[in-house]
Amino acid sequence: MSKMSLEDKAHFVIGTGMAGFSGDNAVIGATRNLVPGAAGTTYPLDSLGIPAIVLADGPAGLRIDATREGDSATYYCTHFPIGTLLASTWNTQLIEQVGQAIGEEVKEYGADVLLAPALNIMRNPLCGRNFEYYSEDPVVAGKTASAYITGVQKNDVGTSIKHFAANNQETNRMNNDARMSQRALREIYLKGFEIAIKESQPWTVMTSYNYVNGIYTSESKDLVQTILRDEWGYTGTVMTDWFGGKDGAKQMWAGNDMLQPGKAEQFDSIVAGVKSGKLAEADLDRNVARILNLIEKSPRFQGYQFSNKPDLEAHAQVTRQSAAEGMVLMKNEKALPFDDKIKNVALYGITSYDFIAGGTGSGNVNHAYVVSLLDGLKNGGYVVSDELKTAYETYISNAKKAAEAALEEQAKKDPKNAMLVKFLPQPLPAEKLFSADELTKQAEASDVAIITLGRISGEFLDRKAADFNLSDSERKLIEQVCDVYHKAGKQVVVLLNIGGVIETASWKNLPDAILCAWQAGQEGGNSVVDVLSGKQSPSGKFTMTWPIKFTDAYSTKNFPIDQDPRIDMMNQGQKGDVKNVDYTNYEEDIYVGYRYFDSFEVPVSYPFGYGLSYTTFEYSDAKISEKGDAYEITVNVKNTGKVEGKEVVELYISAPDNKAANKPVKELKAFAKTKLLSPDESETLTLTVKAADLASFDEAASAWVVAEGEYQFLVGASSQDIKATLKAKAKAQQTKVNSVMPLQAPLNLLKR
Ligand code: BGC
Repeated sequence: MSKMSLEDKAHFVIGTGMAGFSGDNAVIGATRNLVPGAAGTTYPLDSLGIPAIVLADGPAGLRIDATREGDSATYYCTHFPIGTLLASTWNTQLIEQVGQAIGEEVKEYGADVLLAPALNIMRNPLCGRNFEYYSEDPVVAGKTASAYITGVQKNDVGTSIKHFAANNQETNRMNNDARMSQRALREIYLKGFEIAIKESQPWTVMTSYNYVNGIYTSESKDLVQTILRDEWGYTGTVMTDWFGGKDGAKQMWAGNDMLQPGKAEQFDSIVAGVKSGKLAEADLDRNVARILNLIEKSPRFQGYQFSNKPDLEAHAQVTRQSAAEGMVLMKNEKALPFDDKIKNVALYGITSYDFIAGGTGSGNVNHAYVVSLLDGLKNGGYVVSDELKTAYETYISNAKKAAEAALEEQAKKDPKNAMLVKFLPQPLPAEKLFSADELTKQAEASDVAIITLGRISGEFLDRKAADFNLSDSERKLIEQVCDVYHKAGKQVVVLLNIGGVIETASWKNLPDAILCAWQAGQEGGNSVVDVLSGKQSPSGKFTMTWPIKFTDAYSTKNFPIDQDPRIDMMNQGQKGDVKNVDYTNYEEDIYVGYRYFDSFEVPVSYPFGYGLSYTTFEYSDAKISEKGDAYEITVNVKNTGKVEGKEVVELYISAPDNKAANKPVKELKAFAKTKLLSPDESETLTLTVKAADLASFDEAASAWVVAEGEYQFLVGASSQDIKATLKAKAKAQQTKVNSVMPLQAPLNLLKR
């Protein structure tokens, strides 16, 4: 560092720019070619022997260009399932394996840090990036992220846990102020990060775009130094999200070590800041040192000779299996798994033929192929109606042509945003409908019908109300197919190829089975058929509540519904004063997801933690004992059905006098999953809850406080299916933390 000039240091703490956005220069050109398509690099200081290291997205796999100019080789990456599906497995070992496979691709393609995982809380069902996120619950989010990070980093490459913190909407994401109580911040929005960071030590943390209580997270010393480093003991590097925050010198002061992908004015602001004394050079040096530490660990600095040949075949099996395990069986009236008599399948729904592997934007992966449901069924030995296939292929090809023409038109009108337009999630065309005659003939010729409902998910936009609800054509398709097939004595299965929850209450009585397949990565069709055929019994459970109407979630009062997204790639806009756009009041406070629905007894379509299996389980012999400063809960789970399966067991606590104390009626504290149990086989699961984890955040004391008294420990198959209630006493305890990031003006917070 002593050999670096001030200018060297100022370059070093910002990246090398981004093609098409922040200008071009020789450094950018050279670093960009390291791994084409990567999101960014650090700044090389060649004369000092400091190479640029490569930062690439994440999270559903490595995102780099699949082809390179003048090079006949390909650089495809495996498209793994979206984050929501991974979390729905509740299987941390499996998630770690997925992370390990992703990390191998990072390393073998010459990248150094994967910009993942993403674990913002699913505050509202319509957040556009929920597909990348894990849960409405911080324990699920934190444990999932921790397993993912551990897996990736086993390859000696880095991760970047993101977006720290409270990036819970896409609308005006560069300039939205998330206003919340210190309690909600600590208990809900930071808790998952705290768990993952303490358990898995990600090499880097990525701050978010938004403000929290009036201050950009990347400019918040309270967040990046006091909470992250002083309280949680984090020793790694912090970087901004791409073009996040405004004041480079302030970001440096806060301890946001690196600004990505970097812009000229940030360089100027840092140099000027040091010269004027606004920024202490010691602060800059501290950040430089942390980036140096990161580089030192990187494969590139270590001279790792990457092969450009990760084991894509092995990883295809990893994604196929993990995807099947995260699918959630929502309803099953003896329709699944298909029995031996099912051979001919009538396949409806656009996405059956054009299966969606994952989301758009930075979370996309340049995969070599996607196995559609059609191909999956064929691979599984089923016969799919050719007539339907041809009809759909023509319909889809025409719809695609029309959509492409419309996009081109849009790009011509708005050439500045032409590149962005390609990135945005585009709505799917209306569903194809059939006459009663056509349907009758199709029903005669097949043994079962599958209807897939699809939703595109992606970055930059929040989902629209219409995206949650079924379209008229979808509703008609379900009604008509169910009607005709049922009259013909045949069953109908609805498959959901989606990235976030949709409306189900009004139609779920119609089909015989519903399977949520999420967006299941490149092997999606095969994974679905593994479940439909019974090769794999479904064992996923929901990590979020499925409300009856999206307005049932209390947070919807304070969420941008169908607003202009205000896409501002380079963060050139300023914050205005429009509710839910420029600022969002988190009035639901800690009552997010099931904490709200269950505490206020608001009916739901499917509760948090819900998911069926092809077999049944019996819980018995639940016990609790105190072990040092923790409670140990054991429960016996027996497979009482006819086929093998795995069961997820959820442990909630219910605090004494929770209503009077304004605490949720229950909160998840631990979970476990059985191994694959054969019929009649059982397993005793052990779940541990630390006494300190019974605490709620008390703002007045600025402390985590465990209230003395008797706590209930609820062993459940979902938040609304409690199988055993245990009781244990807790002593009062209090852990003080810094009183930071307060609300700037009081909010009308929901209370029980
Ligand atoms: C996203 C990040 C991503 C970054 C780099 C941003 O738009 O918010 O999640 O890692 O771009 O591509």
